[in-house]
Amino acid sequence: MKANDLDSDLWLEVADDPPSMPITKDYLKDNDPLKPFAPEKTITDQQRQLIKQWIMSGAEAGPTYREVYQAVLVPECLVCHSGAKPAGNYDFSTYEKTMASGKVIAKDLANSDFWLEVADDPPSMPITKDSLKADDPLKVLAPTKTITDKQRQLIRKWIEAGAHS
Ligand code: HEC
Repeated sequence: MKANDLDSDLWLEVADDPPSMPITKDYLKDNDPLKPFAPEKTITDQQRQLIKQWIMSGAEAGPTYREVYQAVLVPECLVCHSGAKPAGNYDFSTYEKTMASGKVIAKDLANSDFWLEVADDPPSMPITKDSLKADDPLKVLAPTKTITDKQRQLIRKWIEAGAHS
């Protein structure tokens, strides 16, 4: 299945009249083990259109951890939140570790510190250079600027859509 692309088998199998899928009862031989389970009728046009819309709207997967990783975590967060001693003991360098931190609750912005930390203006995270004392060991690593609104919205959408990997 490819998002935004009707060249997806999931669509092609239902695109014809009658559609190739679902395989219906009268299409199967009497001794076919699938016979008792197969539906009597094929799907409705409404159901087909729903599949089409779903694919064309990006298959509703929402942003993935990969996208958040590339667009936000690598440039803004991982200098502190990865390695042998991640800041606050929160390691966001892999999907598994990020979810294990307990800071991302899929579809629940109000309880996701990962969102709450960037939700305010200015956001609490990333900690920027000028908010740290001169002798703070993080000072060298800290970014000079905070994140952009686009980066914040990506985090919000990622969590809202289910925080997929
Ligand atoms: C300069 C270092 C630094 C950067 C960069 C940084 N953080 Fe942090 N972060 C910390 C430290 C230190 C803590 C632990 C102390 C605290 O909670 O303030 C922390 C804590 C957190 C927490 C847990 C907060 C809580 O109390 O529940 C989250 C979530 C978080 N950071 C997200 C991020 C995100 C997302 C980014 C990038 C957009 C980021 N951080 C960038 C240093 C950093």
